[in-house]
Amino acid sequence: MRSLCILGSTGSIGTQTLEVVRHFPEEFRVIAMTCGDNVSLLAEQIREFAPSFVSVSTQQKREELLGILPSDTFVEVLCEDEGNIACATLPEVDCVVAAMVGMRGLPSVVAAIREGKDIALANKETLVSGGSVVMPLIRKKNVALLPVDSEHSAIWQCLMGQPEGSLKRILLTASGGPFRGYSREQLEEVTLDAALSHPTWKMGGKITIDSASMMNKGLEIIEASWLFDVPVDKIEVVVHPQSIVHSMIELSDGSVLGQMGFPNMMMPIQVALMYPRRSECIVRPFSPFDEKACNLTFESVDRKVFRLVDLAYHAGRCGGTLPVAMNAANEAIVAEFLSGRASFLDIERTVEAVMNKHEAEGVIAEPSLDDIFAVDAWARTAAAELRK
Ligand SMILES: NC(=O)c1ccc[n+]([C@@H]2O[C@H](COP(=O)([O-])OP(=O)(O)OC[C@H]3O[C@@H](n4cnc5c(N)ncnc54)[C@H](OP(=O)(O)O)[C@@H]3O)[C@@H](O)[C@H]2O)c1
Repeated sequence: MRSLCILGSTGSIGTQTLEVVRHFPEEFRVIAMTCGDNVSLLAEQIREFAPSFVSVSTQQKREELLGILPSDTFVEVLCEDEGNIACATLPEVDCVVAAMVGMRGLPSVVAAIREGKDIALANKETLVSGGSVVMPLIRKKNVALLPVDSEHSAIWQCLMGQPEGSLKRILLTASGGPFRGYSREQLEEVTLDAALSHPTWKMGGKITIDSASMMNKGLEIIEASWLFDVPVDKIEVVVHPQSIVHSMIELSDGSVLGQMGFPNMMMPIQVALMYPRRSECIVRPFSPFDEKACNLTFESVDRKVFRLVDLAYHAGRCGGTLPVAMNAANEAIVAEFLSGRASFLDIERTVEAVMNKHEAEGVIAEPSLDDIFAVDAWARTAAAELRK
Protein backbone atom coordinates (compact mmCIF):
# COMPACT_ATOMS: atom_id res chain seq x y z
CA MET A 1 0.00 0.00 0.00
CA ARG A 2 1.33 3.43 -0.98
CA SER A 3 0.85 6.28 1.52
CA LEU A 4 0.07 9.61 -0.11
CA CYS A 5 0.19 13.29 0.69
CA ILE A 6 -1.85 15.32 -1.81
CA LEU A 7 -0.83 18.98 -2.05
CA GLY A 8 -3.83 20.76 -3.60
CA SER A 9 -6.45 18.06 -2.94
CA THR A 10 -9.40 20.37 -3.74
CA GLY A 11 -8.24 21.31 -7.25
CA SER A 12 -8.76 19.66 -10.61
CA ILE A 13 -5.74 17.33 -10.32
CA GLY A 14 -6.28 16.83 -6.57
CA THR A 15 -9.91 15.69 -6.94
CA GLN A 16 -9.01 13.41 -9.86
CA THR A 17 -6.19 11.91 -7.77
CA LEU A 18 -8.76 11.13 -5.07
CA GLU A 19 -10.97 9.56 -7.74
CA VAL A 20 -8.07 7.24 -8.65
CA VAL A 21 -7.65 6.43 -4.94
CA ARG A 22 -11.40 5.63 -4.74
CA HIS A 23 -10.95 3.02 -7.49
CA PHE A 24 -8.00 1.37 -5.71
CA PRO A 25 -8.70 1.54 -1.96
CA GLU A 26 -6.43 -1.44 -1.32
CA GLU A 27 -3.49 0.27 -3.08
CA PHE A 28 -3.45 3.77 -1.58
CA ARG A 29 -3.87 5.40 1.81
CA VAL A 30 -4.23 9.20 2.05
CA ILE A 31 -2.16 10.34 5.03
CA ALA A 32 -2.28 14.08 4.39
CA MET A 33 -4.10 16.58 2.18
CA THR A 34 -3.60 20.32 1.76
CA CYS A 35 -5.54 23.03 0.00
CA GLY A 36 -5.91 26.80 -0.19
CA ASP A 37 -9.31 28.21 0.72
CA ASN A 38 -11.90 25.57 -0.17
CA VAL A 39 -12.42 24.27 3.36
CA SER A 40 -15.94 22.95 2.73
CA LEU A 41 -14.66 20.53 0.06
CA LEU A 42 -11.68 19.66 2.26
CA ALA A 43 -14.08 18.83 5.12
CA GLU A 44 -15.92 16.37 2.83
CA GLN A 45 -12.60 14.86 1.74
CA ILE A 46 -11.56 14.46 5.41
CA ARG A 47 -14.82 12.63 6.13
CA GLU A 48 -14.26 10.25 3.23
CA PHE A 49 -10.49 9.65 3.32
CA ALA A 50 -9.72 10.16 7.03
CA PRO A 51 -6.22 11.65 6.67
CA SER A 52 -4.14 12.20 9.83
CA PHE A 53 -3.01 15.70 8.79
CA VAL A 54 -4.42 18.50 6.63
CA SER A 55 -3.32 22.04 5.94
CA VAL A 56 -5.09 25.16 4.62
CA SER A 57 -3.92 28.57 3.40
CA THR A 58 -4.29 30.74 6.53
CA GLN A 59 -4.98 30.66 10.26
CA GLN A 60 -8.45 32.08 9.54
CA LYS A 61 -9.23 29.23 7.13
CA ARG A 62 -7.91 26.78 9.73
CA GLU A 63 -10.44 28.09 12.25
CA GLU A 64 -13.19 27.99 9.63
CA LEU A 65 -12.39 24.33 8.92
CA LEU A 66 -12.25 23.42 12.61
CA GLY A 67 -15.68 25.07 12.96
CA ILE A 68 -17.31 22.79 10.38
CA LEU A 69 -15.59 19.48 11.23
CA PRO A 70 -17.62 17.14 13.47
CA SER A 71 -16.13 17.13 16.99
CA ASP A 72 -15.18 13.45 16.78
CA THR A 73 -12.92 13.97 13.71
CA PHE A 74 -9.35 12.85 14.38
CA VAL A 75 -7.23 15.10 12.19
CA GLU A 76 -4.43 17.56 12.88
CA VAL A 77 -5.22 20.84 11.09
CA LEU A 78 -2.23 22.97 10.07
CA CYS A 79 -1.92 26.07 7.90
CA GLU A 80 0.26 28.24 5.64
CA ASP A 81 3.44 27.12 3.87
CA GLU A 82 4.71 25.43 7.06
CA GLY A 83 1.55 23.29 7.04
CA ASN A 84 2.18 22.19 3.44
CA ILE A 85 5.79 21.34 4.30
CA ALA A 86 4.82 19.46 7.46
CA CYS A 87 2.29 17.36 5.52
CA ALA A 88 4.72 16.66 2.66
CA THR A 89 7.48 15.51 5.01
CA LEU A 90 5.51 13.23 7.38
CA PRO A 91 7.50 10.03 8.03
CA GLU A 92 4.52 7.83 7.02
CA VAL A 93 4.23 9.43 3.55
CA ASP A 94 5.84 7.53 0.61
CA CYS A 95 4.70 9.71 -2.27
CA VAL A 96 3.72 13.37 -2.50
CA VAL A 97 1.27 14.33 -5.24
CA ALA A 98 2.25 17.90 -6.16
CA ALA A 99 -1.09 19.25 -7.41
CA MET A 100 -0.89 22.80 -6.12
CA VAL A 101 -0.95 25.53 -8.69
CA GLY A 102 2.02 27.84 -9.12
CA MET A 103 5.58 28.09 -7.93
CA ARG A 104 4.20 28.32 -4.39
CA GLY A 105 4.46 24.51 -4.39
CA LEU A 106 8.26 24.60 -4.65
CA PRO A 107 9.17 24.75 -0.91
CA SER A 108 7.05 21.71 -0.03
CA VAL A 109 8.29 19.73 -3.06
CA VAL A 110 11.92 20.46 -2.14
CA ALA A 111 11.28 19.60 1.52
CA ALA A 112 9.61 16.31 0.51
CA ILE A 113 12.52 15.30 -1.75
CA ARG A 114 14.98 16.08 1.06
CA GLU A 115 13.00 13.63 3.22
CA GLY A 116 13.26 10.96 0.51
CA LYS A 117 9.67 11.06 -0.77
CA ASP A 118 8.76 10.17 -4.35
CA ILE A 119 7.05 13.04 -6.16
CA ALA A 120 4.11 12.66 -8.57
CA LEU A 121 4.43 16.03 -10.27
CA ALA A 122 1.55 17.95 -11.84
CA ASN A 123 2.71 21.32 -10.51
CA LYS A 124 4.87 22.23 -13.54
CA GLU A 125 5.71 25.73 -12.29
CA THR A 126 7.91 24.21 -9.55
CA LEU A 127 10.12 22.58 -12.19
CA VAL A 128 10.12 25.57 -14.54
CA SER A 129 11.37 27.82 -11.73
CA GLY A 130 13.17 25.36 -9.51
CA GLY A 131 14.48 22.72 -11.95
CA SER A 132 18.14 23.64 -11.34
CA VAL A 133 17.69 22.81 -7.63
CA VAL A 134 15.04 20.07 -7.85
CA MET A 135 16.74 17.81 -10.42
CA PRO A 136 20.14 17.50 -8.67
CA LEU A 137 18.27 16.89 -5.40
CA ILE A 138 16.16 14.15 -7.00
CA ARG A 139 19.37 12.41 -8.13
CA LYS A 140 21.13 12.94 -4.80
CA LYS A 141 18.22 11.52 -2.76
CA ASN A 142 17.55 8.80 -5.38
CA VAL A 143 13.78 9.38 -5.33
CA ALA A 144 11.35 9.02 -8.25
CA LEU A 145 9.99 12.07 -10.06
CA LEU A 146 6.82 10.73 -11.67
CA PRO A 147 5.33 12.98 -14.38
CA VAL A 148 1.57 13.64 -14.13
CA ASP A 149 1.23 16.24 -16.88
CA SER A 150 -0.36 14.19 -19.71
CA GLU A 151 2.28 15.13 -22.32
CA HIS A 152 5.16 14.32 -20.00
CA SER A 153 3.53 11.09 -18.90
CA ALA A 154 3.27 10.17 -22.60
CA ILE A 155 6.94 10.99 -23.27
CA TRP A 156 8.00 9.12 -20.11
CA GLN A 157 6.01 6.02 -21.13
CA CYS A 158 7.39 6.12 -24.69
CA LEU A 159 10.94 6.39 -23.34
CA MET A 160 10.58 3.34 -21.09
CA GLY A 161 13.04 0.67 -22.23
CA GLN A 162 14.73 2.86 -24.88
CA PRO A 163 18.54 2.72 -24.90
CA GLU A 164 20.32 5.75 -23.46
CA GLY A 165 21.24 8.30 -26.09
CA SER A 166 18.60 7.10 -28.58
CA LEU A 167 16.19 10.04 -28.18
CA LYS A 168 16.44 12.35 -31.18
CA ARG A 169 13.62 14.76 -30.37
CA ILE A 170 10.37 15.16 -28.52
CA LEU A 171 7.14 16.07 -30.31
CA LEU A 172 5.15 17.83 -27.62
CA THR A 173 1.48 17.97 -28.55
CA ALA A 174 -0.82 20.90 -27.80
CA SER A 175 -4.56 21.23 -28.31
CA GLY A 176 -4.04 24.78 -29.55
CA GLY A 177 -6.56 26.05 -26.99
CA PRO A 178 -9.73 28.03 -27.70
CA PHE A 179 -7.96 30.62 -29.90
CA ARG A 180 -6.29 28.32 -32.42
CA GLY A 181 -6.32 30.01 -35.83
CA TYR A 182 -6.84 33.51 -34.35
CA SER A 183 -4.95 36.58 -35.59
CA ARG A 184 -3.19 39.10 -33.30
CA GLU A 185 -6.09 41.51 -33.90
CA GLN A 186 -8.61 38.89 -32.76
CA LEU A 187 -6.54 38.13 -29.66
CA GLU A 188 -6.72 41.83 -28.66
CA GLU A 189 -10.49 41.42 -28.29
CA VAL A 190 -10.89 38.07 -26.52
CA THR A 191 -12.82 37.90 -23.23
CA LEU A 192 -12.14 36.07 -19.97
CA ASP A 193 -15.10 33.74 -20.59
CA ALA A 194 -13.78 32.82 -24.04
CA ALA A 195 -10.30 32.18 -22.62
CA LEU A 196 -11.79 29.93 -19.93
CA SER A 197 -13.59 27.73 -22.51
CA HIS A 198 -11.00 25.08 -23.26
CA PRO A 199 -12.05 22.83 -26.17
CA THR A 200 -10.80 19.49 -24.78
CA TRP A 201 -9.63 19.67 -21.12
CA LYS A 202 -11.46 20.69 -17.90
CA MET A 203 -8.82 22.22 -15.62
CA GLY A 204 -8.19 24.86 -12.98
CA GLY A 205 -8.44 28.54 -13.96
CA LYS A 206 -4.73 29.36 -14.18
CA ILE A 207 -3.74 26.46 -16.46
CA THR A 208 -6.82 27.07 -18.62
CA ILE A 209 -5.63 30.63 -19.29
CA ASP A 210 -2.08 29.35 -19.84
CA SER A 211 -3.50 26.96 -22.44
CA ALA A 212 -5.33 29.78 -24.21
CA SER A 213 -2.18 31.94 -24.35
CA MET A 214 0.01 28.89 -25.17
CA MET A 215 2.18 29.73 -22.16
CA ASN A 216 1.18 26.31 -20.89
CA LYS A 217 3.13 24.80 -23.80
CA GLY A 218 6.01 27.15 -23.06
CA LEU A 219 6.09 25.96 -19.45
CA GLU A 220 5.86 22.36 -20.65
CA ILE A 221 8.84 22.77 -23.01
CA ILE A 222 10.98 23.76 -20.01
CA GLU A 223 9.38 21.07 -17.82
CA ALA A 224 10.22 18.41 -20.45
CA SER A 225 13.75 19.74 -20.81
CA TRP A 226 14.34 19.18 -17.05
CA LEU A 227 12.48 15.87 -16.80
CA PHE A 228 14.13 14.20 -19.79
CA ASP A 229 17.45 16.08 -19.79
CA VAL A 230 17.12 17.39 -23.35
CA PRO A 231 17.82 20.90 -24.64
CA VAL A 232 14.67 22.88 -25.47
CA ASP A 233 15.62 22.97 -29.16
CA LYS A 234 15.12 19.20 -29.32
CA ILE A 235 11.48 19.72 -28.30
CA GLU A 236 9.02 20.62 -31.05
CA VAL A 237 5.48 21.80 -30.38
CA VAL A 238 2.84 20.07 -32.52
CA VAL A 239 -0.72 21.38 -32.48
CA HIS A 240 -3.09 18.43 -32.33
CA PRO A 241 -6.62 19.75 -31.64
CA GLN A 242 -8.18 16.36 -30.83
CA SER A 243 -5.87 15.80 -27.79
CA ILE A 244 -5.73 12.05 -28.48
CA VAL A 245 -1.98 11.68 -29.04
CA HIS A 246 -0.56 12.98 -25.77
CA SER A 247 2.97 13.40 -27.19
CA MET A 248 5.54 11.53 -29.26
CA ILE A 249 9.25 10.78 -29.29
CA GLU A 250 11.48 10.30 -32.31
CA LEU A 251 14.38 7.90 -31.86
CA SER A 252 17.79 7.97 -33.58
CA ASP A 253 16.70 5.41 -36.21
CA GLY A 254 13.72 7.55 -37.22
CA SER A 255 11.13 5.47 -35.39
CA VAL A 256 8.37 7.61 -33.85
CA LEU A 257 6.43 6.44 -30.77
CA GLY A 258 3.35 8.11 -29.37
CA GLN A 259 0.98 7.49 -26.46
CA MET A 260 -2.75 7.79 -27.05
CA GLY A 261 -6.04 7.87 -25.19
CA PHE A 262 -9.15 9.99 -24.79
CA PRO A 263 -8.28 13.14 -22.83
CA ASN A 264 -8.67 12.30 -19.13
CA MET A 265 -6.12 13.23 -16.45
CA MET A 266 -7.01 10.19 -14.36
CA MET A 267 -4.95 8.11 -16.80
CA PRO A 268 -1.57 9.85 -16.25
CA ILE A 269 -2.31 10.16 -12.51
CA GLN A 270 -2.94 6.40 -12.33
CA VAL A 271 0.20 5.61 -14.36
CA ALA A 272 2.33 7.77 -12.02
CA LEU A 273 0.85 6.43 -8.78
CA MET A 274 0.98 2.77 -9.85
CA TYR A 275 4.47 2.95 -11.37
CA PRO A 276 6.13 0.57 -12.18
CA ARG A 277 3.02 -1.63 -12.16
CA ARG A 278 0.06 -1.46 -14.54
CA SER A 279 -3.47 -1.84 -13.13
CA GLU A 280 -6.90 -2.15 -14.72
CA CYS A 281 -8.42 0.63 -16.85
CA ILE A 282 -10.67 3.10 -15.00
CA VAL A 283 -11.27 5.54 -17.85
CA ARG A 284 -13.21 5.23 -21.10
CA PRO A 285 -11.32 2.58 -23.12
CA PHE A 286 -9.78 3.88 -26.31
CA SER A 287 -11.31 3.12 -29.68
CA PRO A 288 -9.70 4.26 -32.95
CA PHE A 289 -13.20 4.15 -34.50
CA ASP A 290 -14.72 6.70 -32.13
CA GLU A 291 -15.61 9.91 -33.97
CA LYS A 292 -13.21 11.80 -31.68
CA ALA A 293 -10.31 9.53 -32.68
CA CYS A 294 -10.76 8.70 -36.33
CA ASN A 295 -9.65 12.05 -37.73
CA LEU A 296 -6.39 13.03 -36.12
CA THR A 297 -4.67 16.17 -37.40
CA PHE A 298 -1.31 17.80 -36.71
CA GLU A 299 -0.12 21.31 -37.51
CA SER A 300 2.63 23.68 -36.43
CA VAL A 301 2.05 26.36 -33.84
CA ASP A 302 1.67 29.94 -35.11
CA ARG A 303 4.59 31.45 -33.21
CA LYS A 304 3.94 34.93 -34.64
CA VAL A 305 0.51 34.97 -33.00
CA PHE A 306 1.30 32.98 -29.83
CA ARG A 307 4.59 34.73 -29.02
CA LEU A 308 4.84 33.27 -25.51
CA VAL A 309 6.06 30.02 -27.09
CA ASP A 310 9.18 31.76 -28.45
CA LEU A 311 9.68 33.60 -25.17
CA ALA A 312 9.66 30.25 -23.36
CA TYR A 313 12.17 28.76 -25.82
CA HIS A 314 14.38 31.78 -25.19
CA ALA A 315 14.03 31.40 -21.39
CA GLY A 316 14.81 27.67 -21.66
CA ARG A 317 17.91 28.30 -23.81
CA CYS A 318 19.19 31.01 -21.49
CA GLY A 319 18.39 29.03 -18.32
CA GLY A 320 19.41 30.26 -14.86
CA THR A 321 16.83 32.62 -13.39
CA LEU A 322 15.24 33.73 -16.69
CA PRO A 323 12.55 30.98 -16.53
CA VAL A 324 11.92 32.01 -12.90
CA ALA A 325 11.22 35.60 -13.97
CA MET A 326 9.11 34.41 -16.91
CA ASN A 327 7.00 32.11 -14.73
CA ALA A 328 6.51 34.64 -11.92
CA ALA A 329 5.50 37.41 -14.34
CA ASN A 330 3.05 35.02 -15.96
CA GLU A 331 1.53 33.93 -12.63
CA ALA A 332 1.12 37.58 -11.60
CA ILE A 333 -0.47 38.80 -14.83
CA VAL A 334 -2.70 35.72 -15.24
CA ALA A 335 -4.10 36.43 -11.75
CA GLU A 336 -4.85 39.99 -12.95
CA PHE A 337 -6.50 38.68 -16.11
CA LEU A 338 -8.60 36.20 -14.10
CA SER A 339 -9.86 39.02 -11.90
CA GLY A 340 -10.77 41.14 -14.93
CA ARG A 341 -8.03 43.75 -14.44
CA ALA A 342 -5.92 42.95 -17.50
CA SER A 343 -6.50 42.16 -21.16
CA PHE A 344 -5.48 38.90 -22.76
CA LEU A 345 -2.49 40.33 -24.63
CA ASP A 346 -1.33 42.09 -21.45
CA ILE A 347 -0.19 38.61 -20.43
CA GLU A 348 2.36 38.39 -23.21
CA ARG A 349 3.35 42.08 -22.94
CA THR A 350 4.02 41.78 -19.20
CA VAL A 351 5.94 38.52 -19.44
CA GLU A 352 8.15 39.91 -22.22
CA ALA A 353 8.81 43.20 -20.42
CA VAL A 354 9.73 41.48 -17.14
CA MET A 355 12.04 39.05 -18.96
CA ASN A 356 13.76 41.94 -20.78
CA LYS A 357 14.21 43.80 -17.49
CA HIS A 358 15.65 40.72 -15.80
CA GLU A 359 18.09 40.12 -18.64
CA ALA A 360 19.17 43.76 -18.54
CA GLU A 361 19.74 43.57 -14.78
CA GLY A 362 21.53 40.21 -14.95
CA VAL A 363 20.34 36.62 -15.05
CA ILE A 364 21.85 34.39 -12.34
CA ALA A 365 23.31 31.42 -14.23
CA GLU A 366 23.41 28.91 -11.36
CA PRO A 367 20.85 30.04 -8.81
CA SER A 368 20.47 28.76 -5.26
CA LEU A 369 17.00 28.16 -3.85
CA ASP A 370 17.19 31.57 -2.17
CA ASP A 371 18.09 33.21 -5.52
CA ILE A 372 15.05 31.53 -7.10
CA PHE A 373 12.69 32.86 -4.40
CA ALA A 374 14.29 36.33 -4.62
CA VAL A 375 13.94 36.55 -8.43
CA ASP A 376 10.38 35.19 -8.20
CA ALA A 377 9.46 37.98 -5.75
CA TRP A 378 11.33 40.59 -7.82
CA ALA A 379 9.49 39.57 -11.02
CA ARG A 380 6.07 39.77 -9.34
CA THR A 381 6.89 43.30 -8.15
CA ALA A 382 8.23 44.22 -11.59
CA ALA A 383 5.04 42.91 -13.23
CA ALA A 384 2.89 44.96 -10.83
CA GLU A 385 4.97 48.12 -11.39
CA LEU A 386 4.69 47.80 -15.16
CA ARG A 387 0.93 47.93 -14.83
CA LYS A 388 0.76 51.13 -12.74
N1 LIG B 1 -5.93 20.41 -14.30
C1 LIG B 1 -5.27 19.71 -15.17
O1 LIG B 1 -5.86 18.98 -15.98
C2 LIG B 1 -3.76 19.77 -15.22
C3 LIG B 1 -3.08 19.04 -16.20
C4 LIG B 1 -1.69 19.05 -16.20
C5 LIG B 1 -1.00 19.79 -15.26
N2 LIG B 1 -1.68 20.53 -14.33
C6 LIG B 1 -0.92 21.32 -13.35
O2 LIG B 1 -1.30 20.90 -12.05
C7 LIG B 1 -1.30 22.00 -11.15
C8 LIG B 1 -2.69 22.12 -10.53
O3 LIG B 1 -3.60 22.45 -11.56
P1 LIG B 1 -5.17 22.39 -11.31
O4 LIG B 1 -5.80 22.58 -12.64
O5 LIG B 1 -5.51 21.20 -10.50
O6 LIG B 1 -5.37 23.72 -10.45
P2 LIG B 1 -6.62 24.13 -9.55
O7 LIG B 1 -7.82 23.37 -9.94
O8 LIG B 1 -6.66 25.61 -9.53
O9 LIG B 1 -6.18 23.59 -8.09
C9 LIG B 1 -5.13 24.19 -7.38
C10 LIG B 1 -5.03 23.57 -6.01
O10 LIG B 1 -4.01 24.28 -5.27
C11 LIG B 1 -4.58 24.62 -4.01
N3 LIG B 1 -3.91 25.75 -3.39
C12 LIG B 1 -3.98 27.06 -3.69
N4 LIG B 1 -3.26 27.78 -2.81
C13 LIG B 1 -2.73 26.90 -1.93
C14 LIG B 1 -1.94 27.00 -0.76
N5 LIG B 1 -1.50 28.18 -0.33
N6 LIG B 1 -1.60 25.87 -0.09
C15 LIG B 1 -2.02 24.66 -0.53
N7 LIG B 1 -2.80 24.50 -1.61
C16 LIG B 1 -3.15 25.60 -2.30
C17 LIG B 1 -6.02 24.91 -4.33
O11 LIG B 1 -6.80 24.98 -3.16
P3 LIG B 1 -8.23 25.76 -3.06
O12 LIG B 1 -8.96 25.45 -4.30
O13 LIG B 1 -8.80 25.15 -1.85
O14 LIG B 1 -7.94 27.20 -2.90
C18 LIG B 1 -6.32 23.71 -5.21
O15 LIG B 1 -6.49 22.57 -4.42
C19 LIG B 1 -0.88 23.22 -11.96
O16 LIG B 1 0.48 23.43 -11.82
C20 LIG B 1 -1.21 22.81 -13.40
O17 LIG B 1 -0.38 23.45 -14.33
C21 LIG B 1 -3.03 20.53 -14.30
